[in-house]
Amino acid sequence: MGEIPLEVDLSEGLVSAAPKEEKHPARPGPAPAGQLPAAGDLVLEPPTWLGRVMRGLSFAVEAANCVRGGLWRLTPWRRRREAASFEALCNNARFAALLDYPRLAKAIEAEVRPHYELYTSRFNAAWMAVSLELSAFLMALCRILRPRRVVDLGSGFSSVLLRLYQREAGPAPEVWSVDTSPEWLDMTRRILRWLDMPTDHLVTWEDFVVQEPSGFDLVVHDLGSILTRRRTLRRVLGLTARGGVVVIDDANYGGVRRHAKRALRRRGIEHHLVGAATRDKYGRYALLALL
Ligand SMILES: C[S@@+](CC[C@H](N)C(=O)[O-])C[C@H]1O[C@@H](n2cnc3c(N)ncnc32)[C@H](O)[C@@H]1O
Repeated sequence: MGEIPLEVDLSEGLVSAAPKEEKHPARPGPAPAGQLPAAGDLVLEPPTWLGRVMRGLSFAVEAANCVRGGLWRLTPWRRRREAASFEALCNNARFAALLDYPRLAKAIEAEVRPHYELYTSRFNAAWMAVSLELSAFLMALCRILRPRRVVDLGSGFSSVLLRLYQREAGPAPEVWSVDTSPEWLDMTRRILRWLDMPTDHLVTWEDFVVQEPSGFDLVVHDLGSILTRRRTLRRVLGLTARGGVVVIDDANYGGVRRHAKRALRRRGIEHHLVGAATRDKYGRYALLALL
C-alpha cells in the first residue's frame, strides 16, 4: 500500500519520521483487508508526563515485571488453582469451545501478533497494553459469544483488537472505547485513524458515565490505576447486560483480585480466574465474570 495519511497536529505530541513535505499526503484509502499499514511514518510521543517518565524507566520496569512474572513458577499451587478455575469455566456449556484452548489460542495469536507487535513497538510499552495472551482470549470470547455491544474501559491495544473483531463480525457490533485520560484517549483516536479503523464511540469515562450506559455484552475492565479499577467496579458491573461478561485485567494484583472476588461473591456472580489462558511473561492475568 502507499503512504499512510498523517492527519495530525505535530505540536500535539506526534512525531513523524516522514519528510516534512509528506506531512499531509493524499489519503490512500483503507488498507486492503488483512494488511497492516506500511511502517516507517508514525511515531507517537506519550501524551502525559507520566507516560514520558514510564518510557524513560521502561527498561527497569520491564526487567522488574519479568522477574515478578517468573517468580510465579515457584508457586505450583497457584498454577493448580488457575487450571481448576479455567476447567470449571470450560465445563459451562456456553464456553465449551474453550476446551481445546491452547490450539485455539495459537491460531488467534498468529492472527493478532502483527497488530500487537506494531502497536507495542511504536505506541506503548508492552507492559502497559493488554498482553498478546489476553488479546487472543478476548478475540476467542468475541467469536464464541458474538457480543452486539462491547465496551473497552482503558483504551489502547484493546481498542484496536476489538475493532479488528468488529471488522470481521457480521452484523458488526457497537464498540466503545473509554478512558479516564483524555490525552490517552486522543492518542488512541490517532492510532485508530492511522490504522483506518473507526473512531466513533471514543469517550472519556467522565462523559461516558453521565450517559448512564448499560446493556453491554462484553466489558473489558482495564481502566486507569488499580485504585480506579476498584473504585469503578460497581459501576462497571452495572454496565453489563444479563448474560454478558466482564473481563477484569490485572487480577494478579491482590488489590484487584481480592476486591473483585469479594464484590462478585457478594452479588452471587459466577467468576473464574483465567490465568491458565491469559498469564503473560509479566505474570499478568485476568478474571472473567459471567453476569
Ligand atoms: C493498563 S492501561 C490500559 C491499556 C489498554 N487496555 C491497552 O490495551 O493498551 C490503563 C490506562 O493507563 C493509561 N496509560 C496507558 N499507557 C500509559 C503509559 N505508557 N503511561 C502512563 N499511563 C498510561 C491510559 O489512560 C490507560 O487507559
